[in-house]
Amino acid sequence: MQRLWWHDAVIYHVYPRSFLDTDGDGVGDLPGVRRRLPYLARLGVDALWLSPFFASPMADFGYDVRDHTAVDPLFGDLDDFDELLDAAHGHGLRVLIDYVPNHTSDQHRWFQDSRADPHGPRRDWYVWRDPAPGGAPPNNWITLFGDSAWTWDDATRQYYLHSFLPSMPDLDWRNPAVQDAMFDVARFWLDRGVDGFRVDCAPLIAKDPALRDNPPSAAGSSAHHRSMGGFDDQIHLHDQGHPDLHPRYRDVRALLDSYGKPGDRVALGEVHEYDWPAWSRYFGRDLDELHLPINFGLLGVTWQPQAIGGTIRAILDAVPAGATVTWVMGSHDDPRVASRVGPSQAANAMLLLLTLPGTAILYNGDELGMPDAAVPPDRIRDPWGLRTPALSRDHARSPMPWSSHSDSPSAGFTPTGVEPWLPITIPPGGTVQAQEADRTSPLSFTRDLLALRRTTAALRRGTIAFLDAPDGVLAYTRSDGSEADLLITLNLTDLPVPIDRLLSQRPPRERLLSTARTADAGRGADPTVLAPGEGVVWSAETRGQTDRQDG
Ligand code: GLC
Repeated sequence: MQRLWWHDAVIYHVYPRSFLDTDGDGVGDLPGVRRRLPYLARLGVDALWLSPFFASPMADFGYDVRDHTAVDPLFGDLDDFDELLDAAHGHGLRVLIDYVPNHTSDQHRWFQDSRADPHGPRRDWYVWRDPAPGGAPPNNWITLFGDSAWTWDDATRQYYLHSFLPSMPDLDWRNPAVQDAMFDVARFWLDRGVDGFRVDCAPLIAKDPALRDNPPSAAGSSAHHRSMGGFDDQIHLHDQGHPDLHPRYRDVRALLDSYGKPGDRVALGEVHEYDWPAWSRYFGRDLDELHLPINFGLLGVTWQPQAIGGTIRAILDAVPAGATVTWVMGSHDDPRVASRVGPSQAANAMLLLLTLPGTAILYNGDELGMPDAAVPPDRIRDPWGLRTPALSRDHARSPMPWSSHSDSPSAGFTPTGVEPWLPITIPPGGTVQAQEADRTSPLSFTRDLLALRRTTAALRRGTIAFLDAPDGVLAYTRSDGSEADLLITLNLTDLPVPIDRLLSQRPPRERLLSTARTADAGRGADPTVLAPGEGVVWSAETRGQTDRQDG
């Protein structure tokens, strides 16, 4: 099979608001991303994915798009985007951008036209329905926040559908005019040279055409990693994931393939589907839909070897032959991984993310071991958090701390004296500047790990096999016929664990890389003991060599 750039890429997810503010408004911008490209190139990632920077009233910080083909002045302008894209390509970095097909802002011209005239040409670009008898919403669909997904429009006496905030109406993808308009949006950015898209809320673009009620779910039946109150009291059978989405994603794929060589431009998909066979349908029956449907399996997993190994195996079993799996440990929507697994396991989480087969998405700040930020109630900005504090995503969006805190209260995120839009959090390992200078820092570890991944074919394209291991240890090999396979061992406990028996099954040649960056990490002198919380990549003899020696 021909290798394409994204088959083993590490994609760095930039949340532009929180990356680097160059114009002093407290919010990150595109020139800020451009200024930090050398940092990303040095880190050793292959691509970046930018969360939305399009014109928006920012009710959902850009996921509420007012104009798909304009840059919001907060972030700069189209020239800034073009310069960023060119500069990234100059560094050998691909650029993916967000593509938000399911909804727009209510301030988008399409919705303003739609709302203005019940008989106008754009009325049916969105989902409008008469009330149920008695005036109630047309069905029982609800948003993540637990309230009705329908909002009444007094002027035109109908309800419109919105999967998220009332100010984010859902487009009707059953309407060919909507498909055409959204394909024009994709072409606009492909023509400028983007390397692909991350498709927001991919399952939502096809719903039950008859808009039937969702059935109730048994309590606690949802596998979703976020608690969403009433949202989980329904099985989301009819408000997302209708099979009619497949032809749409075949069209998206065909469009991407029409640019350059097929496979050059790629679609990541945000797919919150935890039934892995159902999730895998987003690849398409002939691998002709989304290249990389993201699985969120590692975000909610219990941090324990059986649970992690079981989840990974279940996902890999569901991946169709020839397809590439994509792993993610953190995002702008989820609690920070360093807080989820705890500071002593954060490096293990990074080691796991970057040693699994396929593509990995690294969320900005996770390379620093960034924990959840403490955001006081009066600083909450996330609309989800303002409605339901437990759903707030601000703690995962705190600005990147670039330089010394004592020189600049905003740690170099904003020009001196400018208050950042969210409070600055300094991770335990320090700012970027401090971590660059410290070879024991999470940043140095991530960089070394990425370098190892880049230079080791077994890590990039080897198969994976899980091994029996002592309690509390996750162990697997990555093997590629052409060179020595690798053994990865993660101690998920706070105690030292001897793994000499595991090592004697496949004699290790050496420790290639360890999360324990100081000489004495609590393991003593014995290299066959894993220190508390230690993860190690071992070079191991191949089966062939072992056999030869034995014989
Ligand atoms: C996706 C985005 C999230 C956004 C939502 C609505 O889940 O990741 O940030 O709020 O879609 O667009």
